[in-house]
Amino acid sequence: MSETTGLSTFAKDVHAGLTSTPKCLSSKYFYDETGDQLFQTIMGLDEYYLTRSEFEIFENQKEEILKSFLGNDASFNLVELGAGDGTKTKVLINYFAKNKVDFSYSPIDISQHVLDLLLEDLQKLNPKLKVNAIQGDYFDALAKLNENHFQKEVVLFLGSNIGNFSNGSAPKFLKRLGDNLSPGDLLLIGFDLMKDPNVILNAYNDASGITKAFNLNLLDRINSELGANFDIDSFDHFPTYNPVTGETRSYLISTKKQEVFIEATGESYAFDIWEPIHMEVSQKYSMNTIHQFAAQAGFKVVKDFTDENNFFVDSLWEKI
Ligand SMILES: C[S@@+](CC[C@H](N)C(=O)[O-])C[C@H]1O[C@@H](n2cnc3c(N)ncnc32)[C@H](O)[C@@H]1O
Repeated sequence: MSETTGLSTFAKDVHAGLTSTPKCLSSKYFYDETGDQLFQTIMGLDEYYLTRSEFEIFENQKEEILKSFLGNDASFNLVELGAGDGTKTKVLINYFAKNKVDFSYSPIDISQHVLDLLLEDLQKLNPKLKVNAIQGDYFDALAKLNENHFQKEVVLFLGSNIGNFSNGSAPKFLKRLGDNLSPGDLLLIGFDLMKDPNVILNAYNDASGITKAFNLNLLDRINSELGANFDIDSFDHFPTYNPVTGETRSYLISTKKQEVFIEATGESYAFDIWEPIHMEVSQKYSMNTIHQFAAQAGFKVVKDFTDENNFFVDSLWEKI
């Protein structure tokens, strides 16, 4: 495949991932229409404590969160990176609206489908809410954020989305995010905390197999959008958790020796029996690491909001 061919970014990324060692695919491509629906199901699973924990934090501490967001200001722009269907954010939005807070909301997501669902929902809940949705990658959206920076920004980065960056790239991302904010702007960022390794592993290996389907859906997406011939039944889902590094990794394992052809790239990709494709990282954190991240990225920690189990923290940072 020549570098100059007019391939989509998706095709280029898939080619790069399947020709690297070990093979990998970017988890940002999980979220097509089926992926969005599967993730919504995952959020409701018994094993998936993350959504419940963050929901509890918002339900129980929304008053304190609002006070911290406002500080001495009368209004703010609420920006959400990777908003998804906004399940938890709606708890805050409804509370702010009920208290007649002067704020606007800018959800950002790579999936237009999930943004459409969110906008439809918000319109029903609160037709007067000022919403400016941006479809795109975090990094492009960060640049756009900078263009329209007239009032205090309160950025939400929830659900431990930051955990999908490797420990090496998370500080760089946070630094870049900080560089796009002004002193006094706020970031409320969700981190999944280190805990009983069995609890963590089960969250990525649910008994009903939804997480497996979520991972396999990316191969389906490559089949339908890039004209590939992945035999989905010959790949199995295998998550791991390393309690030393705090890293959860999801793999798809080729259960036989096989070749997959992708029309869009015009190439075949050979898989050995038991060869893994690395699909996703979900990093778990200690409070120490979180506070170090804040300092390295030019923020001071205002307050840590945790759930009763201490499973999850939404850490509020101020740009200095
Ligand atoms: C794990 S979901 C979490 C959604 C929501 N933040 C929550 O806590 O429920 C991740 C969301 O981020 C979006 N996303 C993933 N990678 C992205 C990227 N690089 N740029 C923009 N959005 C991205 C996905 O489309 C998806 O809606």
